[in-house]
Amino acid sequence: MKAADIRSTFLNYFASKGHQIVASSPVVPGDDPTLLFTNAGMNQFKDVFLGFDKRPYTRATTAQKCIRAGGKHNDLENVGYTARHHTFFEMLGNFSFGDYFKQDAIRYAWELLTEVFKLPADKLWATVYAEDDEAYEIWTREIGLPAERVVRIGDNKGARYASDNFWMMGDTGPCGPCSEIFYDFGPGVAGGPPGSPDEDGDRFTEVWNNVFMQFNRRVDENGNYVMDLLPRPSVDTGMGLERLARVLQGVETNYDIDLFVNLMAAAKREVELAGGVEVDAKSPSLKAIADHIRACAFTVADGVVPSNEGRGYVLRRIARRAIRHGYKLGARAPFFYKLVEALTAEMGSAYPELVAKQRRVTEVLKQEEERFFLTIANGMEILESALAALGEGKVLDGDIAFKLHDTYGFPLDLTADVLRERNLSVDEAGFNAAMARQREQARAAGKFKMAQGLEYKGEPTHFHGYEKLMVEDAKVTAIYIDGSPAEVARAGDDAVIVLDNTPFYAESGGQCGDAGFLQNGTARFAVDDTLKIQADVFGHHGRVMEGEIRAGDTIDARVNGNTRAATTRNHSATHLMHKALREVLGNHVQQKGSQVDAGKTRFDFAHNAPLTDAEILRVEQIVNREIMLNAASQARVMSIEDAQKTGAMMLFGEKYGDSVRVLDIGSSRELCGGTHVLRTGDIGFFKIVMEGGVAAGVRRIEAITGENAMSYVLERDALLGEVAGALKAQAAEVPAKLAQTLDHVKALEKEIAALKGKLASNQGDALIGQALDVNGVSVLAATLEGADVPALREAVDKLRDKLGTAAVVLAAVNEGKVALIAGVTANLTAKVKAGELVNFVAQQVGGKGGGRPDMAQAGGTDATALPAALAGVRDWVAGKL
Ligand code: ALA
Repeated sequence: MKAADIRSTFLNYFASKGHQIVASSPVVPGDDPTLLFTNAGMNQFKDVFLGFDKRPYTRATTAQKCIRAGGKHNDLENVGYTARHHTFFEMLGNFSFGDYFKQDAIRYAWELLTEVFKLPADKLWATVYAEDDEAYEIWTREIGLPAERVVRIGDNKGARYASDNFWMMGDTGPCGPCSEIFYDFGPGVAGGPPGSPDEDGDRFTEVWNNVFMQFNRRVDENGNYVMDLLPRPSVDTGMGLERLARVLQGVETNYDIDLFVNLMAAAKREVELAGGVEVDAKSPSLKAIADHIRACAFTVADGVVPSNEGRGYVLRRIARRAIRHGYKLGARAPFFYKLVEALTAEMGSAYPELVAKQRRVTEVLKQEEERFFLTIANGMEILESALAALGEGKVLDGDIAFKLHDTYGFPLDLTADVLRERNLSVDEAGFNAAMARQREQARAAGKFKMAQGLEYKGEPTHFHGYEKLMVEDAKVTAIYIDGSPAEVARAGDDAVIVLDNTPFYAESGGQCGDAGFLQNGTARFAVDDTLKIQADVFGHHGRVMEGEIRAGDTIDARVNGNTRAATTRNHSATHLMHKALREVLGNHVQQKGSQVDAGKTRFDFAHNAPLTDAEILRVEQIVNREIMLNAASQARVMSIEDAQKTGAMMLFGEKYGDSVRVLDIGSSRELCGGTHVLRTGDIGFFKIVMEGGVAAGVRRIEAITGENAMSYVLERDALLGEVAGALKAQAAEVPAKLAQTLDHVKALEKEIAALKGKLASNQGDALIGQALDVNGVSVLAATLEGADVPALREAVDKLRDKLGTAAVVLAAVNEGKVALIAGVTANLTAKVKAGELVNFVAQQVGGKGGGRPDMAQAGGTDATALPAALAGVRDWVAGKL
């Protein structure tokens, strides 16, 4: 069976069981900051599990593109060395959103594997979460898997990942215990069963994971992890397409399946064309290359480009790891990007984005590869000579690994990969220490905040922005386009421009960079942001709107006054707030970070508990009183020693040189290089709009000032007016009136429930006449309109009493869901069990249930099948008597 057929067979099987087939989401998750890459089929349904999002279906099935090369699920280092790991793979999955649960999930998996894919049952093993007796019983009793092939695995390590049979997508999000299904490739392959010391071998390979989603793990206000129950127990499963293909195609590794045959051949061919000689077709390096081209191409197709951080760095690491493997096989020129063509041919029909983006993907990977080929030979030479000097079983010096990283562009995991091939390892702590040292040195050299690492050797920029917003006839000292120096920037070019004199504030100390315009008789440049290239060199980032600008030109620089004024108000208010927080909460309050722009100030500080409403109010009052005092602010430049004597507060994240700026705003005194109001009254008005936790012991406040604060308060006031109007009350009466109304609603709900019960029991009485006599047993199966479960139960109880020897099933339909209660009189339970009776009906309406022999309950989802199901009860009971 080809991979493409396996994919469609899987999807069609679940479609036949009422699942909606949903397309794969991109490998870059759209709006989930907790995830680097899509790592499982359930990612796109995260909000559905959490109950924040509703879909028109409660069952879904997908073939999902996944990347596991960064973040919580990372298989990068295993790729090439095992038969079964990938950085990119396709996950086949079925999902239940509060619909079916453990029993059906396991039954479906078993039926699909053994009856549709026809895997021999005696090769299959299952694991369950240690305490999950229910799943254990289903496997051993219902499925009939021998107990010696059902393994309990628990999370006594507290790590809670799949191998512990408790699955989570990341540190937060939906999660739950799981049950994995393993395939035994037989004694010819090394490895032991799950839970045994050599479980990591390839003999027993996990093919399918069934997660019983029940919890949401999140960070609470105090920064601790907590588990909430999900609104409804759900199911999330995942089966690696490549692994299943390996089983079904009876081949040695995932890399021998049909999907990889052409890709492996293309990798061999391109490596040989680039200089490799008679490359072994089964070399682990070829596997790594074939795997990595998939991860890289899909990642670029979904919008990522190689860079030095975040997703872009993961992409760079994977690409460079692949290139290094080609280099190892003898390639001495770019070969990797050429595989995009073979990949598109193989997978383009299932994933059309590969076809649509083929050119761009090729181009992006080609550039990255050309860049790395400039340094790889020297880097490898350095590494080889370091290794030659290293004895057996030794550890590579962290400084050398860092030099390879810093100068030759070798990501740490690339170096580690080379070492692993020789059973050596690297001193990671030493590497991290070297990295930290370099940062420190760069900071000391005033090069700390580099705008995209631009090289600049000219004059420093003189900053005039404390006094004025406009500088005439500034000289252009450098221009950069796409990170490289340029002589000229023309209309439409995005560029970075450095001036000898500027009024633009460059981002620092938490205050954002200025925006505005550079303009002369012929050219106009819109500045979006200003960032430091070096400590005293300011880069104006933006776009040429008209004309052209050359190095050496003179130009007028004008800051956008409105945004600067708003930013300044927020910055000055931050100082007053910092002071007020220490006054209200205590001197342990220390700034942990701040971000100030025209919209708001965001301030993080050390404090252990959420602020009370009263504390927030106090801070607002103190700051606003300082504003009303309208004191003049003062900035003084002095030596750091003198500044310390003034008692000024030193700010986190600020780089202090020999001379510093001491700033008095109202009663606050801090060291600060930012722009500030002339008098506190200029702030206008101050309002806190958010208070929350960011990490253990760190709180965050967001606050606004001036025009923003005024609008905010006026809108709130108008809102209150509206609420009061709707409640027909004065604003001051709203809380009391609302409490009253809610009490009233509660009383009404109680009354309605009582009436419903009464109605149901009346209806129940009316049903007595509908009971049918079957050999002396009264059989009644009917619907009670509008009843809820307690009402059904009460009605069944009553009817049972009145009917003598009886079997009763009552049903109600609420919002499309079927509720069922069955009752059997005690003298009949030997022949007719309420549990069986209720399940006889429930099965026909897509549900299940259980209970005692004389009373049982069930639910179902298919109301349309209810009448026929009820109609069949008489014969079913007759058959039992
Ligand atoms: N989300 C589960 C997994 O990835 C199915 O293993």
